[in-house]
Amino acid sequence: MIKPDFWSIPESNLSAAALAEKIVTLKQRLLDITARFSDVRFATSLAAEDMAITDAIAQSKANIQFFTLATGRLHQETVDMAKTTEDHYGLAIQKVYPEDTDVQAFIDQYGMNGFYDGEGPKKACCGARKIKPLNAALLGADAWLTGQRRGQSTTRTELHFEELDDARGITKFNPLFDWTEADIWAYIKQENVPIHPLHLKGYPSIGCEPCTRQVKKGEDIRAGRWWWLQSDSKECGLHVNK
Ligand code: ADX
Ligand code: SF4
Repeated sequence: MIKPDFWSIPESNLSAAALAEKIVTLKQRLLDITARFSDVRFATSLAAEDMAITDAIAQSKANIQFFTLATGRLHQETVDMAKTTEDHYGLAIQKVYPEDTDVQAFIDQYGMNGFYDGEGPKKACCGARKIKPLNAALLGADAWLTGQRRGQSTTRTELHFEELDDARGITKFNPLFDWTEADIWAYIKQENVPIHPLHLKGYPSIGCEPCTRQVKKGEDIRAGRWWWLQSDSKECGLHVNK
């Protein structure tokens, strides 16, 4: 059987000088954020963009706390990646778990993998495993950071560096909003940033295990996320502002 040709880590044609300038700007963005806000938290999924931000936070020594949403449905590689990151940078990543009662209520109503049945159950599962924990993780924060980029999807083309997160009444920053996929990988390569092992197996974008699959060459980089749904509903609600 011929193996399909999967996505692989892109090469960058960015010059060394252009990359250096982008990195300086990124670190300056982080320091500007911490100069304005005292309690700043970074939501890391441990995928490539978030690893680049993690590295920039470590290098710039910006005072930013890390958390990850431990949904209970992550790949083992993602769980392991949190430890790899903590050990590599000597930092702590807070694991934020869903409430057992919320998970059980979802399972009782829809079944463990009920999210495959459509948009409604998928929203309910993400609500229990990601959104409610995100709200809890951000209680008391002044601002938070994500690794979103404009180039990631049709739903993110209008993304800005700074936004008001209406849902939580705090400021939200996307310090990589204007970076390309190739820029991210150029940074990772140059700075020897640890990477999630699934990036070496055809996964450009990584979420929960049952809702993430490999992407073929030339396919959209989010084609492997909630592939059974329409492309305009491929957000789990973490980044819906209302
Ligand atoms: S998602 O909304 O489709 O799941 P995506 O995987 O593109 O998001 O990641 C966008 C950003 O959301 C990440 O850079 C990160 O800031 C945040 N994020 C996504 N998943 C998690 C997670 N499990 N824990 C913490 N932050 C996450
Ligand atoms: Fe549930 Fe899938 Fe959303 Fe994870 S990504 S919370 S498993 S629907």
